[in-house]
Amino acid sequence: MEKMVVTGGAGFIGSNLAEHLLDMGHSVVVIDNLSTGRKTNLSGWAENAGSRFQFLQMDINETDPLRQAFSGVHCVFHLAAIPSVARSIENPAATQKANINGTLSVLTAARDAGVKRVVAASSSSIYGDDPNLPKREDRMGRCLSPYALSKVVTEEYCRLFYRLYGLETVALRYFNVFGPRQDPNSHYAAVIPRFSTLLLESRSPVVFGDGEQSRDFTFVANVINANLKAASAPNVAGEAFNIGCGAQTSLNQLIDKLNKLLDRQLKPKYEPPRKGDVRHSVADISKAGKMLDYVPSISLETGLQHVLDWYRTHPAEAIITS
Ligand SMILES: NC(=O)c1ccc[n+]([C@@H]2O[C@H](COP(=O)([O-])OP(=O)(O)OC[C@H]3O[C@@H](n4cnc5c(N)ncnc54)[C@H](O)[C@@H]3O)[C@@H](O)[C@H]2O)c1
Repeated sequence: MEKMVVTGGAGFIGSNLAEHLLDMGHSVVVIDNLSTGRKTNLSGWAENAGSRFQFLQMDINETDPLRQAFSGVHCVFHLAAIPSVARSIENPAATQKANINGTLSVLTAARDAGVKRVVAASSSSIYGDDPNLPKREDRMGRCLSPYALSKVVTEEYCRLFYRLYGLETVALRYFNVFGPRQDPNSHYAAVIPRFSTLLLESRSPVVFGDGEQSRDFTFVANVINANLKAASAPNVAGEAFNIGCGAQTSLNQLIDKLNKLLDRQLKPKYEPPRKGDVRHSVADISKAGKMLDYVPSISLETGLQHVLDWYRTHPAEAIITS
């Protein structure tokens, strides 16, 4: 069993990944500054792991302590970032600091500490204004937000560190991830936690635009599976992969599915569209299938059922406060 680091491990995806790595028997260090992450995401599993688990509350821009934390580490899963398009448009400098400077700091510390591989979180937002569907790794448009730019630079730094220093890096372009522990209360919350919790309370969801915009919604277990494959697959250093389900669902269809699962008939309220949002997004996942042996085994419907069950059994998380 190996020692692994998860940056952003107190966040939604990172905490699910860290918990899974511990379950597999690895030692796990979570590094997080708790800017959007929460200590409660670590409770119920981390405290039972004894000396196999460590939480370091720190910023990934602190390269020296990071170097120490990376000593003897096999793989760094780098997920720490400010993960919101809207926030990046309001405050591009904060996104630059966390997502671009932070990634450079993580890669530098990993190189210096002799880490075997870094698996970094990228995003479907990097496809920007490219109208082609499905999104293919080799066809990109112009960025529509500082967040998208930060992920383009993340990927470029990953490739460069492999070319210059031989540090093995893999970038995973996630497509709209959802699952337990995703915060429905953030002003910038993703649609599934927001819609699910509102519908559970019999309240109407708010849709920005006409609801015909579509996404490739991906249950978090599929993303964890992709991270595990990316950590160990041969001949993938310096590569980037789409990680989605390869299926397109509009927001109106999503609300229909949730209504069906909950036996409700709530109609959404429509508001003007938001800047920086792409109209349609669906992944071509054939490259990840071929090179990572990645298969999205959990469907949208099964994932939605898991999420509804989770918010039902975690009512404190499910109360929408705004
Ligand atoms: N959720 C999605 O649908 C999605 C889609 C595409 C890409 N991603 C990427 O996946 C990663 C995880 O996203 P998430 O949805 O779990 O978001 P999240 O906000 O729940 O997790 C991000 C974590 O990073 C931490 N963090 C932020 N800046 C930091 C810093 N400077 N130093 C240390 N820790 C810091 C936060 O406190 C938080 O715990 C991000 O890189 C995000 O851009 C997510």
